[in-house]
Amino acid sequence: MDLDQTISEIHAKILSALHDASTLEAVEAARIEALGRKGKLSEISKTFGKLAPDERKRIGALLNSVKQDLEARIEARQAALESAALDARLDSEWVDLTAPAPGPRPGSLHPVTQVQREIEQLFVSMGFTVLDGPEVETEHYNFDALNIPADHPARDMQDTFWLKDGRLLRTHTSPVQVRGLEKLGPPLKMIAPGRAFRNEEVDPSHEHTFYQLEGMMVDREVSVAHLIYFMKTLLSAIFHRDVTVRLRPGYFPFVEPGFELDIQCLICSGKGCPVCKQSGWVELLPCGLVNPAVLRHSGVDPEQWNGFAFGLGLTRLAMMRYGVDDIRLFLSGDLRFLRQF
Ligand code: PHE
Repeated sequence: MDLDQTISEIHAKILSALHDASTLEAVEAARIEALGRKGKLSEISKTFGKLAPDERKRIGALLNSVKQDLEARIEARQAALESAALDARLDSEWVDLTAPAPGPRPGSLHPVTQVQREIEQLFVSMGFTVLDGPEVETEHYNFDALNIPADHPARDMQDTFWLKDGRLLRTHTSPVQVRGLEKLGPPLKMIAPGRAFRNEEVDPSHEHTFYQLEGMMVDREVSVAHLIYFMKTLLSAIFHRDVTVRLRPGYFPFVEPGFELDIQCLICSGKGCPVCKQSGWVELLPCGLVNPAVLRHSGVDPEQWNGFAFGLGLTRLAMMRYGVDDIRLFLSGDLRFLRQF
């Protein structure tokens, strides 16, 4: 077999091996087969000595050109496979920089806190002072100074959490009326948001712990008209709409006259549901003119001063505002509930 043919067969074989090579290893194997020290073309170079000078020159040139061709093609094939491998890696290892980061979840204010702050802002803008009072109270501030006689049902063991030392968990925020008057004296416009506690059976509309917001204005010649003005301002600011209200006479020893301001239930629109106990109305705003006895207990002369007071059920208000039909959710600590606010 003549050398030209052998060389061109080797050339063709390696070209087809390169064509089929799908890995860098296969390319390398083809290179070694043709160009390695013991490769096929190298073997042929070793037989040169036996050739006539002309033939040697011609075959030498042929071999060189085949070697150069193969080297160039091997390099090109290697480059192609390397870039395909890189593409495949980039394809499989990408990171979506536009994906939202899981990150820490920012907390949010409790719905009752949100409503409380809104009302505080409203009253502060009308010149009211925000006061605080103790949650553990004395009988004096929670009852006596508020003109609640010893035999009043509110003092019943059923309703009050008594401490062993005779003090109690305040059953309402009204003690802050007395504390506020004692400390600041008239004229006084104050609100006092805070927790209150009652020892009663828990159900969708009753909790042992709930939030109230007490309000009081004491000045010269304060009338029911002032009371109604502030209550209307309060309600329209809270609900951002007209709510249906009704005023009933209500008895609280610390106001005279006393009223119950009810709003039509916003959960069922007055049709009747567990929150309004099927009545269609929710007691929201007990209020009245401060009983002279309370002023006297607070060291204020009722001949000179009078005022109005109200006790807003903050927790109940948050229920109406957000359409929550079970008061127990507020203290549940359930994040599925709290994250909605
Ligand atoms: N303190 C009363 C209660 O908790 C509410 C109230 C406050 C009533 C102020 C009249 C005036 O039931």
